[in-house]
Amino acid sequence: MASNNLTSEKLKEILGVSIKLAREAGKLILEGSDAILRSAAEAVEEKKNSVDLVTQYDKGVEELVKKELGQAYPGFSFIGEEETAALGKLPELTDGPTFCVDPIDGTTNFVHGFPFACISIGLIYQKRSVVGVIFNPFLDWLYYGAEAQGSYLVKSGGAPLKLPLTPARPLPSLSQALIGIEWGSDRGLAPMKARGNTFQRLAGDGQHIEGGKMAHSLRSTGSAALNFATVASGQLDIYWEIGCNAWDVCAGTIIAQEAGGIVNTSDLSIHGGEVTGDASDKVLIGRKYIVMRAIADSGSEKGADIQKRLVKELCETVEDFTPV
Ligand code: IPD
Ligand code: CA
Repeated sequence: MASNNLTSEKLKEILGVSIKLAREAGKLILEGSDAILRSAAEAVEEKKNSVDLVTQYDKGVEELVKKELGQAYPGFSFIGEEETAALGKLPELTDGPTFCVDPIDGTTNFVHGFPFACISIGLIYQKRSVVGVIFNPFLDWLYYGAEAQGSYLVKSGGAPLKLPLTPARPLPSLSQALIGIEWGSDRGLAPMKARGNTFQRLAGDGQHIEGGKMAHSLRSTGSAALNFATVASGQLDIYWEIGCNAWDVCAGTIIAQEAGGIVNTSDLSIHGGEVTGDASDKVLIGRKYIVMRAIADSGSEKGADIQKRLVKELCETVEDFTPV
């Protein structure tokens, strides 16, 4: 559709609209957090199980964002976490522009008052993430990016800081990495075993744990979107998770890519065993994600080749499972 032809000017405009909306939603998230922490436990509902949570604020923020984006861009499709959860399946991705939104990513943090929750607004176009806005209202940290326009962090209304926050640094091996991991919401035997084995291999030493990489350490922020943003910033080297969804990672994907990061599936069979760094639809909806920060060239290898080599090693280290 010609009217939906997204030029870089148009992407810039969409970015501006999304930032304004994310800040508006942020106010609701803060009010909601305060109200939840002062209220009885009934304010929190369970979705697929007792660790997959939703509140009236997740739903309220999603309704607000859907309504305002729908008014500003009536021809665009919309995927929101809460609406999709109610439908039970993700709509098929088309080539047309589609907003992909998590109204509150880090709902568990939100209900506990742990200050790492955000709204994540992404735009998919021709099956790739092209605009991303992630706003953590608790810290007043806003991350944003658009295709070919770089990505930035604005802390407490200050000047935009280009991502990554420092020039790309070397990453000689997984053993020097600070790696983001999450517990997710599938807590059955197969996913817990696979995660446990993976965490052991990433953190354990190779002498006592077969295949142990002895990474510097593992971290969980409790928000996939903020993990992506932190990798884009260069403050976390890698993040791996199986089980989160397109709305958790859509905005983070373009923000990380614009910061020189690579976004890939951890299921190499999708691309014939190769690490391509092509985060198109299969990866976006595939629920098996790896993101790695920008890496400096070494004397003998380009940073982009080091990323691919380390992503491949990581894929061979993590244990695959099918998310529920
Ligand atoms: C969750 C968070 C969490 C991740 C889960 C996601 P939600 O999203 O991003 O870090 O481990 O896989 O579902 O439920 O807080 O929107
Ligand atoms: Ca959510």
